[in-house]
Amino acid sequence: MARRDPHSYADDTQVATESLALVARVDFTQRVLHAEATLAFAAPGGGALDLDTRDLAIDAVEAVGAREAAALPFTLHPAEPILGARLAIELPPGSTGVRIRYRTSPDASALQWLAPAQTAGGKQPFLFSQAQAIQARSFVPIQDLPGVRFTYDATIRVPAGMTAVMAAERVESSEPGVFKFRMPQPIPSYLLAIAAGDLVFEPIGERSGVWAEPEMARRAATEFADTEEMMRVTEELFGPYRWGRYDLLVLPPSFPYGGMENPRMTFATPTVVIGDKSLVSVVAHELAHSWSGNLVTQDSWDDIWLNEGFTSYVENRIVEAVYGAEFAVMETAIKQHATVVKLDPLTPAELAVELPGLHHRSEYHGTTSTGPLKGSWFLSWLEERFTREVFDPFLRGYFDRFAFRSINTDDFVAHLREHLLEPHPDVVTEDELAAWLYEPGIPAFAERAVSARFQVVDEARDLWLRTGELPGGAEKWTTQEWLRFLDAAPDVLSPLLLQQLDRAFGLTGTANGEIARRWYQIVAASSYEASYAEMAEFLTNVGRMKLILPVYQALAGTDRAFAAADRVAPRQVRSIISAPGLTE
Ligand code: BES
Ligand code: ZN
Repeated sequence: MARRDPHSYADDTQVATESLALVARVDFTQRVLHAEATLAFAAPGGGALDLDTRDLAIDAVEAVGAREAAALPFTLHPAEPILGARLAIELPPGSTGVRIRYRTSPDASALQWLAPAQTAGGKQPFLFSQAQAIQARSFVPIQDLPGVRFTYDATIRVPAGMTAVMAAERVESSEPGVFKFRMPQPIPSYLLAIAAGDLVFEPIGERSGVWAEPEMARRAATEFADTEEMMRVTEELFGPYRWGRYDLLVLPPSFPYGGMENPRMTFATPTVVIGDKSLVSVVAHELAHSWSGNLVTQDSWDDIWLNEGFTSYVENRIVEAVYGAEFAVMETAIKQHATVVKLDPLTPAELAVELPGLHHRSEYHGTTSTGPLKGSWFLSWLEERFTREVFDPFLRGYFDRFAFRSINTDDFVAHLREHLLEPHPDVVTEDELAAWLYEPGIPAFAERAVSARFQVVDEARDLWLRTGELPGGAEKWTTQEWLRFLDAAPDVLSPLLLQQLDRAFGLTGTANGEIARRWYQIVAASSYEASYAEMAEFLTNVGRMKLILPVYQALAGTDRAFAAADRVAPRQVRSIISAPGLTE
């Protein structure tokens, strides 16, 4: 047994999947997929094959291409809590592939099945997937690790009147209710994605558009109107976009993330569609993954900073190019404040702010913002030291060299030495490098982002806290200035101050998810019951963990409300709140 990745049963002495053919029927009545997955191997092989599964019912397994192509015996081992169940198959020699007939469970961890009432339209049910980090195995039996890449074809059957989408190229299909897809670029399993519901398409530009429920499509296309421009600036900086189209699927509010970089089709929360484009850095972020992560992938989840850290950096470069330096600096300052000053609530303290080797075996691996922040801070620091003239081509060269490959921190460091440090000696020291790469925390010599507008906000807040004088000019503040105002406010405020602020600026009930998260966090910590109805509405509507978890945690700290929080919190949130080391 030679495991490649602690989060997968895949064994690198066995055959590797080169392509997948998926045929599935979406059954909204039973909330299952009835499916058949055919894995084709890079070269004919035989012997043991271990696949990852979670909560799958396996109906039949057969070999493809071998002489004795009959049904194969298989063993579905008992499930482990994080890894799921190992599906052990013994292939006859000369097998070119394996075909597995299976059904998913209604509780499949990657799939959310929504009743019509949970959608904007209220008439049709809805299904969406979220496979990162190790959930793909709950809807496809596969080698579920970022180090194995495969292309795929899929045929998805949905009930009449519904539309299916996948993060792939659409292929014409003449049969009603049948949707076909093709992913010609090799992807890791965590980028498999599917959704079905009452979906329509609204174009943005030549290569981009929005899929959403009819109620949302127009508004979202307007919010994301700069997507084409974002693609253009990223290509200019870091090389061609290699995935064909870039569309966004705007999901119902229960989607657990802000965005997920599924190739060709980012899945996104509707909580950023607020009418003023102020939260579209989520699009910049997910688009950036088309270079960092989707193109150059971490070989194991332990090296996720290579993915999220680089992406946060590229995101900020896109934001700067499209919305200006002042906006980009505000965004960086917000992230730095949240992570370094407040410490990410999703991260156990002892893991805070480390780069490689986050040996953190968990189902929700990588759901933290510390690795990304430190990674992007490191790249910004390199950029500053070497200048953009040198650093930008270096980064572009890195994306080119490792395109469609999975690499680890050592590969990156070797590339860094060869292409940046050696040609430009004496710009950074070994000690500085080690501080970024191998020591916990943000190095003392790293400079914080400074935003002049935030200094004004900080002064206004201090004055308000001291004298009760409301912040002047706040009615014209951008989202980012409000985020700063709330982020650096005390955790607990008096009912008087909260009421005064809310009366003046109408924070309770805001449609802006980032403002809501911070406001309700203070509301909860302060037991400010006047806003509890709207807070409960927010918590029960929105599934984006980054927005609701901190509010639940604040509620959990004021014990009276904890029982209620525990009752309504979604599964992912409950498991994180109750994880050891997180609640103290
Ligand atoms: N790929 C991540 C989301 C993710 C990370 C899912 C780890 C599962 C495990 C995505 O690109 C992301 O970082 N989303 C952020 C966007 C934000 C940083 C702009 C989010 O959802 O908040
Ligand atoms: Zn990301």
